[in-house]
Amino acid sequence: MKSALAALLIAIAILPPVYGKDDYHGLPPAGAATQGAALLAVCAACHGMNGIGMSPTHPNLAGQGYNYILKQLENFRSGARKSSIMTGMAMTIPPSPKHANLKDIAAYFSQLKPMWTYVAVGAVPATAAQLQLGKIIYRRGNAAEGLPACAACHGLNGEGNGPMAIPALAGQHAPYMLGELQRFASGRRTNSPGQVMYTISRAMTADEENAVIAYLAQLNPDQVLGMGPKNFTAYAQLHGAPGAPKAH
Ligand code: HEC
Ligand code: HEC
Repeated sequence: MKSALAALLIAIAILPPVYGKDDYHGLPPAGAATQGAALLAVCAACHGMNGIGMSPTHPNLAGQGYNYILKQLENFRSGARKSSIMTGMAMTIPPSPKHANLKDIAAYFSQLKPMWTYVAVGAVPATAAQLQLGKIIYRRGNAAEGLPACAACHGLNGEGNGPMAIPALAGQHAPYMLGELQRFASGRRTNSPGQVMYTISRAMTADEENAVIAYLAQLNPDQVLGMGPKNFTAYAQLHGAPGAPKAH
């Protein structure tokens, strides 16, 4: 199993950045605010206008990485990520040059403040032993099973990696995350680069899955925001969009 771990660590090192900095959209096109608000009203029914999912299986989008949200919307649209609900939803977003509408939506949700929405997995609260096991899996992995530390990619505090489109996990609904691990393991979700999340989710025992999710559920999402530009003006300042106020 050591070789599986080594292969994964190499995969981490060579994972290409999914989007370069030039993919940031900068300022929204004229009229985007009105159109964006109309589009978002549809999304808000499940994801909330403040980006907090209305049920534990509707993911929170507030403060999630811009590149990650954009990649997911593109993946839903192309069919690379299959979801009976989201495939249709992604189709309601009008196509536009270079995915401008998708970028506006991704930028909108990524600059919202994440909120701690603790929902226990199952009826029983996590035990101290479970949280301890979850922390070990998250920070160190399990070499005997070829399981790398989640923190290597998702960040020590669950803040994700913005440029590499690796999602923040702090501040995400626990039942949603557990469901996604099971989708990766069963091969229903196949859009992780190099199938890393397939290999990882299959290397975990059910006890380890429950423990790592219980651990994630109590991480403070205040660490999440601040990984990248927070709003359109900040994007524009970073990337020199015309008309943007100068950065100091
Ligand atoms: C009827 C409820 C519903 C509506 C409306 C909806 N979504 Fe979703 N969304 C979901 C569910 C459920 C998932 C999880 C899908 C899965 O994993 O199979 C999801 C997943 C997502 C994800 C991926 C999040 C992650 O952490 O990977 C993004 C991004 C997203 N939705 C954006 C949108 C946008 C933008 C809209 C509006 C155009 C929208 N959604 C409308 C229910 C909804
Ligand atoms: C090699 C890097 C890497 C490691 C290590 C890793 N992940 Fe991931 N994970 C990813 C990437 C990349 C994605 C996003 C895949 C995509 O583009 O859809 C992801 C997605 C996820 C998601 C879905 C989040 C969402 O919003 O839908 C969960 C949950 C998750 N990982 C949990 C874990 C856990 C728990 C561990 C440790 C046991 C772990 N990951 C280790 C790279 C990694």
